[in-house]
Amino acid sequence: MTGKILVLGASGRVGGRLSTLLSGRGERVRAATRRPSLMQGEAVELDLERPETFAPALEGVDRAFLIARPGDEQADAVAIPLIEEMRRADVRHVVNLTAMGVERMEGSALRRIELALEASGIAFTHLRPNWFMQVFASPPLLPGILAAGAIHLPAADARISYIDARDIAEVAAAALTDPGHENRAYTLTGPEALDHHEVARAIGSASGRPIRYIPITEEAARKAMAGSGLPAVRVERLVGFYRLVRQELCAPVTEAVREILGRPALSIEQFASDHSRAWSPPPACKDGNPR
Ligand SMILES: NC(=O)c1ccc[n+]([C@@H]2O[C@H](COP(=O)([O-])OP(=O)(O)OC[C@H]3O[C@@H](n4cnc5c(N)ncnc54)[C@H](OP(=O)(O)O)[C@@H]3O)[C@@H](O)[C@H]2O)c1
Repeated sequence: MTGKILVLGASGRVGGRLSTLLSGRGERVRAATRRPSLMQGEAVELDLERPETFAPALEGVDRAFLIARPGDEQADAVAIPLIEEMRRADVRHVVNLTAMGVERMEGSALRRIELALEASGIAFTHLRPNWFMQVFASPPLLPGILAAGAIHLPAADARISYIDARDIAEVAAAALTDPGHENRAYTLTGPEALDHHEVARAIGSASGRPIRYIPITEEAARKAMAGSGLPAVRVERLVGFYRLVRQELCAPVTEAVREILGRPALSIEQFASDHSRAWSPPPACKDGNPR
């Protein structure tokens, strides 16, 4: 009998969908979270900051989905001890979510996590996705779309092959349950490279309200991000990412989703249609004021 699958980030965008898909495939799923009482189904406390939570979370687990702590410049410092604990617990396969291009960024935390997993002797599958389409349906971009009908980014006219996080979850489910994905790395993108005028048009047409893309300078982006409360180090990291974007380094399209799932990756139109309510203005009370 196979063991359980531990899913990190189970309350998040990829891990949440992945848990549902794995349960649908008849797998026994254990959600790893800092707040197990908020989760449905089997959940266990796992805090990357608290190594004492690792061993109990891994009891009876033979496969795992690993994410790095979002936005953490030193995410490897907490992820590598977890990988060591996975090896001690005889976990046999880890599907590891990193990001597009990390294989060319030797000093980055995500690359260090990939290398530590490869050196551990546990079978690995690295999933290296491009930016998620879901960034348009959540902060920090969502408030600007709701308030001003505008996407402000320092991306000039450069394109990004955005991917729907639901596709990443489906690829992760396949990698964890179908044979042949061990010791592989997949760069995952959406079906096409889009500039932000195209993204704004897709969201506008699905939500029934005009939405524009307004390219901004790096300095304006820095100010806006700092004003929204992001820590300085995260602001500089994001500003740096958009420098890569402007060089079209996030535009390449891969066929990995189609090859693994046997269908094309989800389009921006599909994403926008499925999330159209995220961009609706809040409902008004009888007196006309928003609730
Ligand atoms: N967003 C993108 O466009 C993008 C692109 C490429 C790669 N990625 C990668 O995808 C991953 C997910 O990113 P996301 O932005 O979509 O986040 P997310 O999965 O929506 O949410 C963050 C998750 O991280 C978990 N988490 C945070 N701190 C934790 C800690 N100390 N210990 C254990 N779990 C912790 C949270 O779990 P609890 O709150 O339940 O504990 C939550 O489920 C990240 O590693 C990121 O590098 C993102």
